[in-house]
Amino acid sequence: MILKSKKVFFIFSLAFISILFSQLSYKKESYPENIIIGKPTNNSIMISIMAIENTAIYINYGLDERNYTNKTEIIHSSKDQTAIFNIDKLMPNTQYYYRANYKSSDNEKFYAGDTNSFWTQRSIGSSFTFGVQGDSHPERLCDEFGYGMGISANQRNSGEARGCMYDPELYKKTLRMVDEDRPDLYFMLGDDFSISNLLPNYFQGDDSGFSQSIVDDIYINQRNFLRIMANSTALFPVNGNHEEARLSLLNTPLHNSSIFAGNARNRYFPVPTPNTFYSGNEKPIEGIGLLGDYFSFRWGDALFISIDPYWHSTRVTERIGGMGISRVTRPEVLRGTNPGANTGGMDSGTAMGVGTKAWAEIEGDWIRLTQSSGNLWDATIGDRQYQFLKKTLEESDAKYKFIFMHHVLGTGRGGVERATKYEWGGYNDKDEWEFDQERPSWGLPIHQLLVKNNVSIVFQAHDHLFAKQELDGIIYQSVPNPADPGYQEINFQAYKTGDLLPNSGYLNVEVSPENVKVTYKRSYLDKDETDSAMHGQIDYQYTIN
Ligand SMILES: [Fe+2]
Ligand SMILES: [Fe+2]
Repeated sequence: MILKSKKVFFIFSLAFISILFSQLSYKKESYPENIIIGKPTNNSIMISIMAIENTAIYINYGLDERNYTNKTEIIHSSKDQTAIFNIDKLMPNTQYYYRANYKSSDNEKFYAGDTNSFWTQRSIGSSFTFGVQGDSHPERLCDEFGYGMGISANQRNSGEARGCMYDPELYKKTLRMVDEDRPDLYFMLGDDFSISNLLPNYFQGDDSGFSQSIVDDIYINQRNFLRIMANSTALFPVNGNHEEARLSLLNTPLHNSSIFAGNARNRYFPVPTPNTFYSGNEKPIEGIGLLGDYFSFRWGDALFISIDPYWHSTRVTERIGGMGISRVTRPEVLRGTNPGANTGGMDSGTAMGVGTKAWAEIEGDWIRLTQSSGNLWDATIGDRQYQFLKKTLEESDAKYKFIFMHHVLGTGRGGVERATKYEWGGYNDKDEWEFDQERPSWGLPIHQLLVKNNVSIVFQAHDHLFAKQELDGIIYQSVPNPADPGYQEINFQAYKTGDLLPNSGYLNVEVSPENVKVTYKRSYLDKDETDSAMHGQIDYQYTIN
């Protein structure tokens, strides 16, 4: 029965993808374009277009949307349905307009897509905006009672976890709002491509529900939403724990978790790998290549740095699983518009096919592989990434410095409460100083390094709420979910100080030579709007100089 459900899920996923791409057979009247832009520099942009295999595509671009002066060569979309354009020789600090043109093999002429735009690197002294969202969690759909589709009756009764925090319509509304605001850059802080729930059965030896193409579908699903705004705003995806892209899984029975996740990310999203404009992770991983997981760049008066503990901790940090969403068998969860709908996190395998192992026999191995050792010094960005962070901060004269990551240490709950601990703050949970023996070559814990180098704001996610806190002059900003229809304030207990607000929405950040203004713009489903809860309403705003 369980095996059958996995197959049903797989078949429905394929059906969905084939329906999706049948719509991408371009007709003159209508077609849903699927464009994500990223990796902007002072003179170039990467434009990733999805279209049915072997579609001929070229791009017109220029400074005037009514008169394009340039065009690219024609590229035919590949077997993985992407065509990647790297447009260079652009001018800095300039807004360009562009339009893709498509010709399927059964069409005789090219059909023009919509006009989009992008900015090259802003110059010092110019003003611009960027956006940030937290955990979108497309796998955590809700039932009619406001519970997650996948949680067990026991969990429902215990109130331990509602497991519901995603509504596709609400996600679209948030992203449409971003599209209207049209920031230059947009950071999504992880838990956007969850494959956690696919892993236990795979660990048992059933690989029918886990493959590169199934993981690809989860990344493609996000594109179908992000394309609303990321055709004109450069996107920067940051890994969370549920992406399950982890150093600690390499060369284990879950090796492919990290490999499939890394490949899907690189295939379907523009990833800022190092070049003369971006600095970052220069070490390729066999089977993936460069990860683009940590990186930095300069834009206007601001330095942007993203860091990642998951690809660098040799022991698992945040445990694999979580949420205990298990034994999803109802076809309505598996069907339809959301590949990976049952992938929330899972504590035990349920595979019972030929050749699979009894869960009881392998549970110990699973726990050793997927749960934290309990020693949080194991959670680390690693020496190489620390040196990158230190050098990048010390060499920058930017007025504002922003850090982006999924969460302090990659595990635990809270903001400044965790920033004083382990490699971030030097103390263990008993408030004993252990930094000197645990990180003898570092000089300073991460937080102290950020203080010394005048970091402005640390943006993190993972806790599923809005929380603005301050520690030693640095703002620690927890970023809300973009699409939680329960408008929850999850994990608020972990925050002892600061201003807290519930989901959903996104943060719009305006950077000018004078100051930085952070605005929490709320997002509501039509049915949930009231006089005091309007879609687009500003619920919090602050300025730093
Ligand atoms: Fe999350
Ligand atoms: Fe998370």
